[in-house]
Amino acid sequence: MKQPIISFKNVMKTYDGDVKVLKNISFDIEEGKFYTLLGPSGCGKTTILRMIAGFSEPTKGDIYFEGKRINEISSNKRQVNTVFQDYALFPHMNVFENIAFGLKVKHLPKKQIEQKVKEALKMVRLDGYEKRGINEMSGGQKQRVAIARAIANEPKVLLLDEPLSALDHKLRTDMQYELRELQQRLGITFIFVTHDQEEALAMSDEIFVVNDGLIVQSGTPVDIYDEPINHYVADFIGESNIVDGVMIKDELVEFVGHQFTCVDSGMRSNEPVEVVLRPEDLTLTDLAHGKLQVKVDTQLFRGVYYEIICYDEAGNEWMVHSTRKSVPQTVCGLDFEPEAIHVMRFNESEEDFDARLESYEE
Ligand SMILES: Nc1ncnc2c1ncn2[C@@H]1O[C@H](COP(=O)(O)OP(=O)(O)O)[C@@H](O)[C@H]1O
Ligand SMILES: [Mg+2]
Repeated sequence: MKQPIISFKNVMKTYDGDVKVLKNISFDIEEGKFYTLLGPSGCGKTTILRMIAGFSEPTKGDIYFEGKRINEISSNKRQVNTVFQDYALFPHMNVFENIAFGLKVKHLPKKQIEQKVKEALKMVRLDGYEKRGINEMSGGQKQRVAIARAIANEPKVLLLDEPLSALDHKLRTDMQYELRELQQRLGITFIFVTHDQEEALAMSDEIFVVNDGLIVQSGTPVDIYDEPINHYVADFIGESNIVDGVMIKDELVEFVGHQFTCVDSGMRSNEPVEVVLRPEDLTLTDLAHGKLQVKVDTQLFRGVYYEIICYDEAGNEWMVHSTRKSVPQTVCGLDFEPEAIHVMRFNESEEDFDARLESYEE
């Protein structure tokens, strides 16, 4: 890996001497990628962004920008700009003045400011809106002005703190595409914050799953979806069926009283584990062909598929996504491939998890 643009090394943040908001955060950010910090409200996402921007200092640990320690560097000397959750636009200024503000503070010549504002507006598809008052803009347009103001400064890193959470569903989806496209056009590093797992999966090159002041897992959306490290991640990202099991030996796991071939290995024999199966990897079939016997309980039509809830003999609930309709109260077979079974150890660190996966993927 080339030199990261940003690194956190064992960063901690404590308020009032004892409230640990960030417990021990280390990560590397590579230049030019789209990163997402994903986690529930209060887990520490904004605190991490504020430290990158220079609005807050770590209590312990170090922050590096292009290899230089920047803990004490003030925010206006960092090549970083932020799009805040509430946009933080100046309501008494028009669009031009809002975007030009930071450039005027830097004493750029008037002609250059006009040029940069124009380019920034074009980037967010608001060409010609210079004279509009902020209060005459819709929520989505304000959002774009906030982004234009941030990119007009030509930062190396753009921080976006839940920028889409105030928008309605349709606009939000459109903006997801636009932001992703904007990031690719500008080629700069984006660090995007959200509590919405679908948004994170759709937009990111890399996701950091944050929980309770710690990064619990990092990786590409596909890695995190396919190989969640623990119950928390499996449950938070996507829909999951999670049951208790026992790893009999490599590639053989027992759950719901039966043994199944799987593709996981590297655990102790007879180690208690948790087993994840995604709803889209399950199929309902006739009794003779099922690996488990289930009774269909309820069914909801979700547009592209039916979401079917059934129960096995032991009373575990299973969610199945199927394009075929089923009939509540029928008893049928539940089928899945060995690859669909994902086995998780209790309390495995991300390092040990990665090492174990690598050892049997080779
Ligand atoms: N200035 C502060 N003083 C004390 N506690 C704070 C302060 N700022 C944030 N916190 C606490 O830190 C935790 C993480 O906050 P934050 O980073 O804003 O979470 P998120 O952005 O993930 O919702 C929360 O419990 C919050 O109450
Ligand atoms: Mg926040």
